[in-house]
Amino acid sequence: MTETHVLTGAFGYTGRYLTKRLIARGIEVRTLTNHPGDPCLFSAPVGVHPLDFSRSLDLAASLRGARVLYNTYWVRFDHGRTTYASAVENTKVLFDAARDAGVERVVHVSITNPSPGSPLPYFSGKADLEAHLLSSGLSHAIVRPTVLFGKEDILINNIAYLLRRLPLFGVPGDGRYAIQPVFVDDLAALMADLGSRPDDLVVDAVGPETYAYLDLVRLVRDAIGVSTPIIRAPGWLVVLAGRILGRLVGDVVITSDEVRGLSSGLLVSHDEPTCRTSFKGWVEAHRDTLGTRYANELTRHYT
Ligand SMILES: NC(=O)c1ccc[n+]([C@@H]2O[C@H](COP(=O)([O-])OP(=O)(O)OC[C@H]3O[C@@H](n4cnc5c(N)ncnc54)[C@H](OP(=O)(O)O)[C@@H]3O)[C@@H](O)[C@H]2O)c1
Repeated sequence: MTETHVLTGAFGYTGRYLTKRLIARGIEVRTLTNHPGDPCLFSAPVGVHPLDFSRSLDLAASLRGARVLYNTYWVRFDHGRTTYASAVENTKVLFDAARDAGVERVVHVSITNPSPGSPLPYFSGKADLEAHLLSSGLSHAIVRPTVLFGKEDILINNIAYLLRRLPLFGVPGDGRYAIQPVFVDDLAALMADLGSRPDDLVVDAVGPETYAYLDLVRLVRDAIGVSTPIIRAPGWLVVLAGRILGRLVGDVVITSDEVRGLSSGLLVSHDEPTCRTSFKGWVEAHRDTLGTRYANELTRHYT
């Protein structure tokens, strides 16, 4: 019998790759989203249901009959009424709805090095959700990626965008903190594998290469063929510059929490790499298009 799996955000970033992977495995896919996209993206129909956390009974109804839920839902920063705290509470509603609907297994996307005591709400919120899932009684896999790269990416794309346009590019602090990027489709493949396993586990989703952040920015600069000087700058100055740029592009370019998270060296794994695609190889293969357009978080998620 054909299995049904549900994921959040099938037309989003990770979600679109995961949907393609699941369809290729013969799985019937439903999604919970507030941003339905072009159905032609996929080779089979995808059932679209609202991602409305205020209607837990409807959420459960949308999940009924599915064996696996893949949760990609999260928010990048506090903005208006959308906060990390609300994202934590919303995700708990989603997990509880999944359990009430008889979903067997949850594959949940977290972050590398989450910690309940972290001063960074991204990392403490993710730790809270991991603990909630562990105590839910649901079969589960927790997958912890670092920074993703791929065609629809925001962070790496916008580094390239700014390198193409600014007279100089500032990296916060000494730029020596490590970052181990992972290809979005590798993450999707890992998630699809985890959906079909029976055991409870936690796994980092990390690529084969680890860079000092400064070297990563240099790599992107050299690949896209510009000669923008890269300077070290205090974190507060990078945040201030980000605010000014944000006014120009109509977005939140970078937050102080993101600067602190980046420079804390949390975006690396202490385990063996689980994903294979080379960041360097991918950037070089996409040198002509990377950063030619700004990727706007507010347009993507707040309209
Ligand atoms: N992108 C990265 O570099 C990165 C790095 C480490 C970890 N992660 C984790 O990977 C997961 C997937 O990330 P992604 O970048 O692929 O996400 P995404 O596709 O942009 O969004 C994933 C889901 O979250 C919802 N969402 C995102 N921002 C929202 C907002 N402000 N308000 C309400 N709903 C929002 C989307 O809703 P709609 O379906 O309505 O669009 C979608 O269902 C997340 O858990 C994230 O924490 C990502």
